[in-house]
Amino acid sequence: MSTKLTWFGHATWRVECGSHRIIVDPFLDANPTSPVKASQIDVDFVLVTHGHFDHVADAAGIANRCGATIVSNYEICEWFAKKHGVKSTEPMNLGGVIRLPFGSVKSTIAHHSSELPDGSYGGNPGGFVLVLAESRQRIYFAGDTALCLDMQLLANVGLDLAVLPIGDRFTMGPDDSIAAVDLLKPRRVAPSHYNTWSPIAQDAHAWAARVRAETKSEPIVVEPGATFTI
Ligand code: NI
Ligand code: MN
Repeated sequence: MSTKLTWFGHATWRVECGSHRIIVDPFLDANPTSPVKASQIDVDFVLVTHGHFDHVADAAGIANRCGATIVSNYEICEWFAKKHGVKSTEPMNLGGVIRLPFGSVKSTIAHHSSELPDGSYGGNPGGFVLVLAESRQRIYFAGDTALCLDMQLLANVGLDLAVLPIGDRFTMGPDDSIAAVDLLKPRRVAPSHYNTWSPIAQDAHAWAARVRAETKSEPIVVEPGATFTI
């Protein structure tokens, strides 16, 4: 059993394992690099790392149309329930693990901010470690974050894939993401949160060459809309 991942540009990833379909940080309709619209997405779970518009944008629309469950911190889940009529949420907070039909989700520390688009308090930003029940694979979505030493703890998880921001300016950039790979020691690493707009433009192929030269991890770089299997 394997896991299929699709990058829709920015920090938006779809994870498919067996019959389970998950989307992380859906930002599609207003994302200049996404080849699909939110109306084309059909998932069971929507994972939201933090409150910024480029992560929450299409979450309520997808959840309400698909009857999907939103997984996020408590404050963001309450915001979706009260202000966007989302019926099903799974609130959590940093360090917590929840068990869902597709496997488990752990909320991990991210060093960032998390205000919601209407100015509401968005709680602490985070990332997720997914342990997929059917493939037994472990995937880390760092979310928007700076490099932090806490990542060293996640090396113990035995990550099959780490998805790390490389865009710089609002998150760690290429140099710090290489240092993050050193701490995390994932089998594979994929870049995220870059090339959406010019302030976060990066050369992902140059980054991949550095990952190969400077770490033991395998870089996976795809174009928006492309799928790969791990
Ligand atoms: Ni952000
Ligand atoms: Mn962001």
